[in-house]
Amino acid sequence: MSVVPSAGTGKITVPSILERKSKPSSQNSAQAKITCLTAYDYPTARLLDEAGVDVILVGDSLAMVVLGYDSTLPVTVEEMLHHTRAVRRGTRRALLVSDMPYGSYHTEAAEAVRNAARFVKEAGAEAVKVEGGERRMEMISRLVDAEIPVMGHIGLTPQSVNAFGGFRVQGKTEEAGEQLMRDARAVEAAGAFSIVLESIPRELAARITAELRIPTIGIGAGPDCDGQVLVIHDLVGLAFGHQPKFARRYADVGAIISRAAQDYCRDVRAGTFPSDDESYHARPVQAGTLLTHQK
Ligand code: KIV
Repeated sequence: MSVVPSAGTGKITVPSILERKSKPSSQNSAQAKITCLTAYDYPTARLLDEAGVDVILVGDSLAMVVLGYDSTLPVTVEEMLHHTRAVRRGTRRALLVSDMPYGSYHTEAAEAVRNAARFVKEAGAEAVKVEGGERRMEMISRLVDAEIPVMGHIGLTPQSVNAFGGFRVQGKTEEAGEQLMRDARAVEAAGAFSIVLESIPRELAARITAELRIPTIGIGAGPDCDGQVLVIHDLVGLAFGHQPKFARRYADVGAIISRAAQDYCRDVRAGTFPSDDESYHARPVQAGTLLTHQK
């Protein structure tokens, strides 16, 4: 069983995320910006939580950055639950949101509710994220009716990669922009408490942010959103392949791991690891016996 640990005051909750927009701090509006990062395991969750990240998202991007698939489509509910449980153990203050994977909410609303409830009951998620706009309205309101807070996600929705014909910026024409406006309104009307805007023009994201009452969380959507989200592997330099221009790299952990592994191999091969100090020692009498046996 997994439960949300009580972290005392300062715990980020769904209402406190909504309040960031409805009651922004008059002193410093930058303070009110919502910070969100992905995590897929216990140590990363602990580090992000202790660093003060507001929302930790167990993104289905784990299919690509952790499991090595070339899209998010293959990851299963069981795999997402497994990683969510690990992240739950490392998260105390942040709001924990889990992605519903492709296929887990695309058939019937009842099936979506059953799957989403597993994230809450079995893995300790405090909310789920689903992709799509107008077409997902009924399903989102059914989840909300079942007391499951929902984060929406529109724009470049990676689960639509085949329909889009690749990972492409969305909403660039007037018509496409208007459709995304309708999608954003639909997600809000269905009861979502926040919405991710992915890879859309900055101007469109600003318009959606100004119109909606729920917070927008951007990724490749410019600085005017109410918050920002990035994939942790992009942020720390652990991702391979093409990096989108919005994925600012704050550290090069990939290079640090690679160097550590090379140094370790060098020391083992040279016989300098482990040293005597890094070895256990027998008690003197026993040591004598061991030495006698070696002769
Ligand atoms: O799966 C994911 O990591 C996401 C974020 C990039 C928003 O959906």
